[in-house]
Amino acid sequence: MILTVGSAGSSLSGELTPPGDKSISHRAVILASLADGQSRIEGLLESEDVRATINACLQLGVKIVKQDGELLVDGSGAEGLSEPRRPLDMGNSGTAMRLLTGVLAAQPFYSELRGDDSLSTRPMRRIVQPLTAMGARIETSESGTPPLHISGNPGLKGIDYASPVASAQVKSCILLAGLYAEGKTRVTEPRKSRDHTEKMLPTFGVPVTDDCTVEGGGFLTAAKVRVPGDISSAAFFMAAASLIPGSSLTLNNVGLNKTRDGIIRVLTAMGADLEVIKPRMYGKEMVGDILIRYRGQLKGIDIPLQWIPSLIDELPVVMALAAVSEGTTRIRGAEELRVKESDRISVMARGLESLGVRLKEYRDGMDIEGGGIKGTWVDGAGDHRCAMSFCILGQLLESELEIHGCGNIDTSYPGFVSDLQNLGGVIK
Ligand code: S3P
Repeated sequence: MILTVGSAGSSLSGELTPPGDKSISHRAVILASLADGQSRIEGLLESEDVRATINACLQLGVKIVKQDGELLVDGSGAEGLSEPRRPLDMGNSGTAMRLLTGVLAAQPFYSELRGDDSLSTRPMRRIVQPLTAMGARIETSESGTPPLHISGNPGLKGIDYASPVASAQVKSCILLAGLYAEGKTRVTEPRKSRDHTEKMLPTFGVPVTDDCTVEGGGFLTAAKVRVPGDISSAAFFMAAASLIPGSSLTLNNVGLNKTRDGIIRVLTAMGADLEVIKPRMYGKEMVGDILIRYRGQLKGIDIPLQWIPSLIDELPVVMALAAVSEGTTRIRGAEELRVKESDRISVMARGLESLGVRLKEYRDGMDIEGGGIKGTWVDGAGDHRCAMSFCILGQLLESELEIHGCGNIDTSYPGFVSDLQNLGGVIK
């Protein structure tokens, strides 16, 4: 799919409530599916990725209906899932595949998980290896990629796992398997990744200690979950308002979890005029409203390494911002971007180069020299976050910019185009 943007001079204004948080939505559906009783989920993200998780849970025998804007999930209880008759299709979603594998590894039945072309190239050994150490039986392709063939084993043993990557998908996968394992399961990681699973499990009656340990054999009880707005989706509009002269936006109910708020720190350090107001709690998750106004050209910065996990999904839009900031922006420690829905370092580097930006690509990041952009064509390479980043950057151009490879925007943000139009952006 091709989108066309380019409208220098048209500022953005108004209010937006971004769609529900994708990470929290997946977890809410999965935990509710495992719980005893009926859970209610308010504010769920209705995107293709979350749909993949819902469809998989339906195929596993869970009853899920939408009613009055909420998702009602009649969970199967700890041991009530049933063998799927067909392979489970995870589409584009690494989160759906990795989290559900943790659950399915412990079931007394066989299951197969597949994905689209992008997901079929993504590394799964990072979960298969620790799950195997717990007693799981999982086959991948020779290169460790999907499809996954899981011969479930209800006799898993708990593990004390030091993950070599800061990955919430790995951590959550092992913790979910740990719910079914004998004894305790603990996951430690080199830098703290998003902690939504640890925050949500207690809502379903399962304690998680501060050192990230769960005890196997506990039962989940149904709960009510209110999903915050996705800061990763809000980030495109924070970027837009701080780039386009005259803009002023209010973004409502944005998730402000400390493991996700790196974009706020980066924008503030680059000189954006950003204010968080009315912080409040949705369960254990903090939310707030964000006011963001154009103040002038942003400044390039060196992004501190320890901030990287908290803005891993926002790095494509930060790279776009850097391209039009004053001075150089340096990003390192972001090698995980190479194994996302695309190789995001490469896709963003090629895209920015096609817009005349000077940069140097590294294995784990990029140096980007700020300046102007020009061009008529850029490739989002089928990666939703890269495509949306180029849509925002292209708002600065006076002539039209064609953005190719936009077909997967719906995986995380189905209303992106209309939200941008409604706030004054030009996109078709
Ligand atoms: C996610 C974790 C992150 C993130 C992804 C969603 C999650 O991936 O990039 O979009 O919901 O757990 P990793 O855990 O692989 O870093």
